[in-house]
Amino acid sequence: MRDASLVVIASRLPINDAAASEGVFEWRRSPGGLGEALHPVLINTPTTWIGWAGKAGPTTSLPDVDGVRLVLIELSEEDVRDHYEGFANSTLWPLYHDAIEPAVHHRRWWEAYQRVNQRYADHAARVAAHGAVVWVQDYHLQLVPMMLRAQRPDLRIGFFLHVPFPPPELFMQLPRRAELLRGMLGADLIGFQRIQAVHNFHQLVAKVLGATVDENGVEIDGRVVSTGAFPVSIDTAEMEALASSEEVVQKAAQLRADLGGPQRVILSVDRLDYTKGIEHRLKAYRELLVDGRLKAAETMLVQVAIPSRERVEQYRLLRDRVESEVGRINGDFGRVGVAAVHYLSQVFDRTELAALYRAADVMAVTPLRDGMNLVAKEYVAARVDGCGALVLSEFAGAAAELTQAYLVNPHDVEALKDTLIQALQADPTEPNPQMLAMREHLRHHDIQAWAWSYLTALEAACAAR
Ligand code: F6P
Repeated sequence: MRDASLVVIASRLPINDAAASEGVFEWRRSPGGLGEALHPVLINTPTTWIGWAGKAGPTTSLPDVDGVRLVLIELSEEDVRDHYEGFANSTLWPLYHDAIEPAVHHRRWWEAYQRVNQRYADHAARVAAHGAVVWVQDYHLQLVPMMLRAQRPDLRIGFFLHVPFPPPELFMQLPRRAELLRGMLGADLIGFQRIQAVHNFHQLVAKVLGATVDENGVEIDGRVVSTGAFPVSIDTAEMEALASSEEVVQKAAQLRADLGGPQRVILSVDRLDYTKGIEHRLKAYRELLVDGRLKAAETMLVQVAIPSRERVEQYRLLRDRVESEVGRINGDFGRVGVAAVHYLSQVFDRTELAALYRAADVMAVTPLRDGMNLVAKEYVAARVDGCGALVLSEFAGAAAELTQAYLVNPHDVEALKDTLIQALQADPTEPNPQMLAMREHLRHHDIQAWAWSYLTALEAACAAR
């Protein structure tokens, strides 16, 4: 039935897999995730979301969740292996993140990528109303814009890439580079997180496809495709309200007491991913303990590491390395009843997360490369008291906006150590101008502002075509 006027297409449906397997359908709200970002934008708009449920297997029909109609894409075991774990997360993901781990190439993965992208495009073509807006999300689905345009030229098609778009030296390694660029160019507007990504894309389409580019977009085969940077954000007001609640304030105090009342708490919240710089951070922390610049009894590190892509070998190996390093630090520096690193490899709900943010004197967000990093923004929004310190990697998209953070190059372990010490020396009980300035920025640049600016630019691009 072609009746949807706004269609979101994303690799996954925004539902909580664990709850869904027990028959409860609720919005997936993992920290920094896509569902998390889009939730406030979509709950008040009649939207259809097309995606996969996170497990291989046959399609069942799903109820609407928070007013959003869900259309389930069925992926077989082979599709999951070759499309999601293979081409998306073992070829594109590492390459788009500076090849921190080497990208793996297999020809059968490309076939699966095409096949699965076609399935998403076919579903969207079936449900979208005439002239509807279809908003395609992320690197798993780069071919969908062109596939959809081929079937439904009446649609207004947007594509947004949540992860970094790499420089030509890296992208040129992809055996299917031309097809991937052409796939994206099926959109009317291609959005990126940072302006550098727009430049990388322009250079590539000129070089690989011979397209003409100017600062607003690309001209190819008689079509104009707009491009731009639209840094994604969070629901600032929602996080502020949650973090101000009595429940969160009490939980934060309880957390500090449970940690044994340390003088300072450093917090990190990451998906367990090699792009997040967890190993570099642990190394810096260990060296600070070895050098005696930190004392485990006074300063504690709480590392939340949410399990992710657990069947992909690079992720399994990372987990082993991280857990062995945590064990080593605790073995060397812990005491009976007091760990030096509190390592929690589990999913936290929003309230617990807000309490952790409020309990932390220093938040260390030090990825080696990250499209945006919404956890950094959430921490700032949660500090309704104006206190706290954010140590932020220069290589997170968020660093372009949160310029008052303690910015650091996480590859430079000495700089990482010095920056952590500097942040720990700030008075944790006094509101500081840096935090207040970042909070002010997020009040104006929240998720609603992001969606509005993207969708307005899409309207303009379509009106001009
Ligand atoms: O940052 C890119 C992203 O795809 C997010 O949208 C998502 O929340 C996260 O990575 C984890 O994705 P997944 O569990 O689907 O691999």
